[in-house]
Amino acid sequence: MKPDVLMLSPTRPDAQARLEQQFTLHRLDLADDKPAFLARHGAACRGMVAMGHTSVDAALLDQLPALEIISCGSAGYDAFDVDAIARRGVALTNASPALAQEVADMALLLAQMGWRNVVAADAWVRNGDWARKGAFPLQRSFRGRRLGIVGMGTIGHKIAELASQQGLQVAYWNRRDKDAGYPFQPDLEQLAQDSDILIAIVAGGPDTQGLISDRVLRALGPDGLFVNVARGSVVDEPALIAALQDGGLGAAALDVFWSEPDPDPRLTALPNVTLSPHQGSGTVQTRDAMASLIVDNLQAHFAGQPLISPVDL
Ligand code: DGY
Repeated sequence: MKPDVLMLSPTRPDAQARLEQQFTLHRLDLADDKPAFLARHGAACRGMVAMGHTSVDAALLDQLPALEIISCGSAGYDAFDVDAIARRGVALTNASPALAQEVADMALLLAQMGWRNVVAADAWVRNGDWARKGAFPLQRSFRGRRLGIVGMGTIGHKIAELASQQGLQVAYWNRRDKDAGYPFQPDLEQLAQDSDILIAIVAGGPDTQGLISDRVLRALGPDGLFVNVARGSVVDEPALIAALQDGGLGAAALDVFWSEPDPDPRLTALPNVTLSPHQGSGTVQTRDAMASLIVDNLQAHFAGQPLISPVDL
């Protein structure tokens, strides 16, 4: 008999077809009456599929007494109550391995764009400054710069690897030393002080809220660049805006914001900010790979095999 799986978030077509083939799917659509849907199907569901911004709390879990595994389709699971999940002995998997390289590529791309001032250079051509004022002001080279990585998980490792290949000197902060093969700096403010570029790639959620504080941003300094490919919540955004406005911080390149999809207009008005609409993993290939991993993890679980990308709860 096929295991029953509750789907709270849609997925890519190929993965959807595999899910339909291998499981008895209960797909909650926006138009559905959620309490009635859960009362009808919840008790049978042994698996669940959800993206990390979908609320998975104790009240929902109470309606899923047979739940064994949650296969999260994203790397982040900010809206999941992980304590409640752990208390019930439910396994959790995520999509980190499928998107790590893509997000690392985006992190380094944003770092280069911010460092070489590509957005201003684009405007220089578009608004005729090139013809009117002459050559674009000389920039500082990227190669050889000191990069601080905040968070040394699966994606942090890929960023470190790629940054080293691009000639950056890498150091990192993490809650615990990961023995990652790069210098570990346990003091985040000191890491910022010692870096030209700081990339945030820690998980979101209450533990990391405001981790990149005013002090950290100002330690990075007037020549420094802050890159965020993690979650908007990990930075004190009003402090970020103030530091960018008063020159306490040189520049920022941001893929994530406190308010998505409608970032603070003070950020979008700043010329020293490179903006990207939360699309670090946003390619067809990577989104397909992430979706495929949702199915692979469920399959492994129900076949009694080791999970492919378990989250340590
Ligand atoms: C992730 O997978 O967590 C990405 O940020 C998309 O939400």
